[in-house]
Amino acid sequence: MASYNAMSPNPLPIILDCDPGHDDAMAIVVAARHTNVIGITSVSGNAPLESTTRNAIIMRDLLGLDCPVHSGAERPLIREPRHAVNVHGKSGMDGANLPAPSGPPASTDAVGYIIETCRAQEGIWLVPIGPMTNIALALRSAPDLAGRIAGISIMGGGRFGNSTAAAEFNLWCDPEAADVVFRYGGPLIMSGLDLTHQFQATPERIAMVHALPGTLAPILAELFEFFSGTYRSRHHNIVGAPVHDPCAVMALTHPHLFTRRRAHVQIETHGTITAGMTLFDDRDLKDIPEPNCDVLTGIDADAAWLVLLEAIAHFSH
Ligand code: BDR
Ligand code: CA
Repeated sequence: MASYNAMSPNPLPIILDCDPGHDDAMAIVVAARHTNVIGITSVSGNAPLESTTRNAIIMRDLLGLDCPVHSGAERPLIREPRHAVNVHGKSGMDGANLPAPSGPPASTDAVGYIIETCRAQEGIWLVPIGPMTNIALALRSAPDLAGRIAGISIMGGGRFGNSTAAAEFNLWCDPEAADVVFRYGGPLIMSGLDLTHQFQATPERIAMVHALPGTLAPILAELFEFFSGTYRSRHHNIVGAPVHDPCAVMALTHPHLFTRRRAHVQIETHGTITAGMTLFDDRDLKDIPEPNCDVLTGIDADAAWLVLLEAIAHFSH
């Protein structure tokens, strides 16, 4: 675990916008280790807002992170809320005996918090790893944010879907919000399903977490067991859950672990069977629109697992 465990002297400032969520929890661990987490905002997604907020606070407490958690949107911009009980259980983070949260969120105005914080400090990365409702609301109420933030690194979309044949869960929940994000005009990094499915919590990798000393590692190992269990029970050919959300963090902190390409990506918001699809403009024409994002295409999964493992070990005592 020697290679990727050194904290940078100037870790990137981020606001992590999440819906924990087993893999969101792991993203919080990596972010706590390798970034300057200015704040965590929660959104309805894997579970209702009350549960995702609770889970975010529990993770913040378990890691001893000194940052606020603000709760945000209770529902997508225009659609009814949808949750992923079949993947994450009713609580959003089933499978482990978790402590109670230390208290309520700092506020219920995640959008206001994002706007104020990004106006007060330039160069923050926004890292949405759930439905992008909070981020879209912030960008729409405060278009000046586009020029103040460093960029947005998302987990979402891909060349195939999981909630539907066309759409990945985060995009499927709130396509209109994703559309705002993909059109915002600044740096955008996309970790989609075709990337995250290369990074799976295999039994061998989960065993490495079980083998770590301390009290946090066994909790996270149990979360991985549950998460991988639901994936294995629902898929024909998958050995472990794709560890989606940490990719959006590591895209910033460990960019050398990824391959990428520039692309123009649009979000389908009207399709009757394709809503939430990410459409890549790969036409071999000179007059197609300029690329609007960096699409991550490959990951060194073994090295990325060591990054995650080391971060867990760091906080497990
Ligand atoms: C995404 O949906 C959620 O289930 C995960 O937390 C991840 O953000 C993967 O489709
Ligand atoms: Ca998520």
